[in-house]
Amino acid sequence: MHNSPLGEKEKLHFMNLNGGFVSVIGAGTMGNGIAHVFAQAGFNVTIVDVSLAQLDKAVANIGKNFDRQVAKGIVTEEQKTTALANITTESNIIEGVKDAELIIEAATENIDLKLKIFEQLDMYAPKECILATNTSSISITKIAAATSRAGKVIGMHFMNPVPVMKLVEIINGYATTKEVTNTIIELSKQLGKVPCAVNDYPGFIANRILMPMINEAIYSLYEGVAGVEEIDTVMKLGMAHPMGPLQLADFIGLDVCLSILHVLHDGFGNPKYAPCPLLVNMVMAGKLGVKSSEGFYTFTAGSKELVVSERFR
Ligand SMILES: NC(=O)c1ccc[n+]([C@@H]2O[C@H](COP(=O)([O-])OP(=O)(O)OC[C@H]3O[C@@H](n4cnc5c(N)ncnc54)[C@H](O)[C@@H]3O)[C@@H](O)[C@H]2O)c1
Repeated sequence: MHNSPLGEKEKLHFMNLNGGFVSVIGAGTMGNGIAHVFAQAGFNVTIVDVSLAQLDKAVANIGKNFDRQVAKGIVTEEQKTTALANITTESNIIEGVKDAELIIEAATENIDLKLKIFEQLDMYAPKECILATNTSSISITKIAAATSRAGKVIGMHFMNPVPVMKLVEIINGYATTKEVTNTIIELSKQLGKVPCAVNDYPGFIANRILMPMINEAIYSLYEGVAGVEEIDTVMKLGMAHPMGPLQLADFIGLDVCLSILHVLHDGFGNPKYAPCPLLVNMVMAGKLGVKSSEGFYTFTAGSKELVVSERFR
């Protein structure tokens, strides 16, 4: 197994990362959250994105999220200033990764794009640098095979919103070395997170269990067993879930849910993962949840009220 206790040699390697240089590829929702937690923990962070607008937006969002933490008494104004000073941005990947000891890739979820990025990271990052990916569903083993350092490639699956959510699902690719896994486990703890190491099979653990539950909730609606509110209320009040599965699906994005179900279905070849036809139809109709203002619920900017979509009333 990969998660044996840390040996002296591994500890030493890990300590080199402490306060070291981290590059985050992709300045979107996850990239800015990942940069935030590393900067807060004292690392020098370079955020790399092809879009200058996204880089500007990421820095502004990180500032706002720190302000929220200051208001809540989670960090001091001084800690915020120090953390923000740890962050730089870069649109040229060669410049952005040249000094990195660890890279976390959080670019758009597209396999061809990720394979291309990892080829570049392998080419331009220092030989000792660990290459992690925040992918929700793409095989770590496949990504690793695009590099000449498969032993140093690993999944580091943060949850949204990164500064708030405690879990880091760490995914060992087929070739990931024990030393690299232990380094990433210890590093996650240093960020104040709780790491869980799992192996690389479709959906890892989080999505392999979550997505069939969401799919079953959609099937229950599709078959007329219960309405949107009833399904979500049963799971919230009966199972102590903070959010019902249909509401959560709207937050994740129905297109993202569908694409992960396809990964599970294709990867295992088991019909139990087949996406519900209602989910397929909603995605084709552009009803994607929060991001399109309508899914199982209707979302209005500025309102936190949960309103079931007209379609399901
Ligand atoms: N959003 C979530 O809740 C969530 C949760 C866990 C994991 N993930 C995973 O995190 C990754 C990022 O998701 P997101 O929601 O932050 O996406 P996003 O669309 O918000 O951001 C993606 C960013 O990648 C940038 N990008 C595209 N091509 C690039 C390239 N060649 N080099 C550098 N940057 C590039 C885009 O400009 C964009 O800023 C995906 O792999 C996704 O599966 C997302």
